Amino acid sequence: MLKTPLCELLGIEKPVFQGGMAWIADASLASAVSEAGGLGIIAAMNADANWLRDQIHELRTKTDKPFGVNVMLMSPFADEVAQVVIDERVPVVVTGAGNPAKYMKAWNEAGIKVIPVVASVALARLVARRGATAVVAEGTESGGHIGETSTMALVPQVVDAVDIPVVAAGGIADGRGVAAAFMLGAAGVQVGTRFLVANECTVSEQYKEMVLKANDTSTRATGRSTGHPVRALKSPFTNAYAKSEAAGVSVEELGAMGTGALRKAAKDGNYEEGSFLCGQIAGMVSERQSAREIVDDLVDGAERVLKGASAWVA
Ligand SMILES: Cc1cc2nc3c(=O)[nH]c(=O)nc-3n(C[C@H](O)[C@H](O)[C@H](O)COP(=O)(O)O)c2cc1C
Repeated sequence: MLKTPLCELLGIEKPVFQGGMAWIADASLASAVSEAGGLGIIAAMNADANWLRDQIHELRTKTDKPFGVNVMLMSPFADEVAQVVIDERVPVVVTGAGNPAKYMKAWNEAGIKVIPVVASVALARLVARRGATAVVAEGTESGGHIGETSTMALVPQVVDAVDIPVVAAGGIADGRGVAAAFMLGAAGVQVGTRFLVANECTVSEQYKEMVLKANDTSTRATGRSTGHPVRALKSPFTNAYAKSEAAGVSVEELGAMGTGALRKAAKDGNYEEGSFLCGQIAGMVSERQSAREIVDDLVDGAERVLKGASAWVA
């Protein structure tokens, strides 16, 4: 059985987080992952307090296991969402897109386990000093908003820099990836892209088909010039966006282009105008499965690899 200190810390059976995914990671997917023994995470994205409260209540009708909420710090509703997680006694908060220092004290006082996503050693150190329970070290292979450093380089550097558990994210979609993350010193993994095709994932069929057909070079990162790079499947939207970026279009205009594009992909399956956020590992995601099958495959596969690893040592 694969158990790490993170399991005990969070009361979960398996050290697998389902990454918060805006417009995608709702109560349906998160409850299924938590029921499977991992940590399901509802993405609060840019939604308001009422939407999040409803999702939390719906999740609680489906599971009584621990779960998390992903708070996007850039959201205009971040303040009210930060309060909802306290009012609703959410066990775990994972923060994305920035520095959560502003909310850390209140969340810690409420007994919430706070796990910020970091793309650098500096931010990992800062949030550890402010009382983070653990950190997610997310490499540039990931889908969604990304940093510059790869998972392979980032994880061991973050592990060496902080005294709290590190969860590896970015480019992990099977047992080999999980085992590799543990070898780098991680105590758990966060997976986004593979869960896009989970049966319980409510994303559009068009989105799922595109992920299933993707190969190793199907994604590209755009938006580096804006300071907020994003990784998505190549599509008419990413082509148009990259062209505008290369032509020197202003950051404001680029921002306007991006507004609503993920919703168009996730909810409407709009191939022409949608932004299909996705990680580089999509080429390995080729099967629709239940969340339980995915969690079990990640963990069982890692056990096999880890047990076999000693064969290399004389
Ligand atoms: C479609 C999509 C949307 C995402 N949205 C968010 C988000 O709202 N907040 C966040 O912190 N991370 C977000 N992420 C990142 C994931 O939570 C996770 O860390 C990442 O997908 C892991 O890398 P992988 O895609 O290689 O599995 C998103 C990722 C994807 C693929």
